[in-house]
Amino acid sequence: MKKIPLIIDCDPGVDDALAIILANSIEGIDIKAITTVSGNARIEYTTRNALLIAELLDLDCIIAKGAEEPLVKPLLTGTNIHGHDGLGGCVKLFPNEIRKKLSKENAVTVMRDILINSDEKISIAAVGPLTNIAMLLKVYPEVKEKIEQISVMGGAIDNGNITACSEFNFYADPEAASIVFNSGVPLIMAGLNLTNNATLTEEELKEMKAIKTRLADIAVQMTSGYISKDAAIHDPCAILAISNPEIFEYKDLYIQIDTRDGITRGMSYADYRKNYKSNCKVLTKLDVDKFRNFMVRSLRV
Ligand code: BDR
Ligand code: CA
Repeated sequence: MKKIPLIIDCDPGVDDALAIILANSIEGIDIKAITTVSGNARIEYTTRNALLIAELLDLDCIIAKGAEEPLVKPLLTGTNIHGHDGLGGCVKLFPNEIRKKLSKENAVTVMRDILINSDEKISIAAVGPLTNIAMLLKVYPEVKEKIEQISVMGGAIDNGNITACSEFNFYADPEAASIVFNSGVPLIMAGLNLTNNATLTEEELKEMKAIKTRLADIAVQMTSGYISKDAAIHDPCAILAISNPEIFEYKDLYIQIDTRDGITRGMSYADYRKNYKSNCKVLTKLDVDKFRNFMVRSLRV
């Protein structure tokens, strides 16, 4: 079976962790690397968390540490939603010993090397602030032709979650998001307008609990705390948009990111003019039942 080669750029993060677990469970995906960025927590934490998740899954891929801070603005973290450790206070449940090795190279170099040396195009799921991806595209523009698509969790074509206009990942690094949306690389946007529907109910949590493995137990604990803060399971949508596009509807739209200071900073502005240019497939509808099935199944590995 021909697999989709995938790089996951993330800031784990409870829903980032669930996105990695999901990607690992999908037979048609070959995870080439996990690269980390500051976001839900500082880079030391998101990187340690990526290693912990890889250890738990016994995932054999490169793991590399990326940007410590956004391109221009000071760092903003999401520990109010993801807990002080970035994993909903569940770090202690993960394996004590981390045998997985962190790459000596920075995330941007790792992505560049994988892309340049690949015979086939590679997809990227970018589910944190877009700092690493923006640097990759600016410093090594020659990689663009090797990117199949970048599936971004970020933005919204209605309301934000950090401000009325702006979603966390884009608000955290709007300059980076703007670079990515002006890069000409094929983009998919899983924004809040879509991902706010990606929820789990008590029913799925019960099914997950019944699996009774260490992985399922940890996932249930992380998820229960996280959804009690009313957070949706955003990041796995960016993975499924690559592996299972049939569970979504989308519109081709032209999205621009507001980098100005003020009430619209970080906003992803959608241009709906008919026959206007487009730079992105914006996901608009999700088959929630199928999403929930994928999430439960991801723990039965
Ligand atoms: C996004 O921000 C983070 O809190 C989540 O991991 C997700 O990537 C949702 O706005
Ligand atoms: Ca994230």
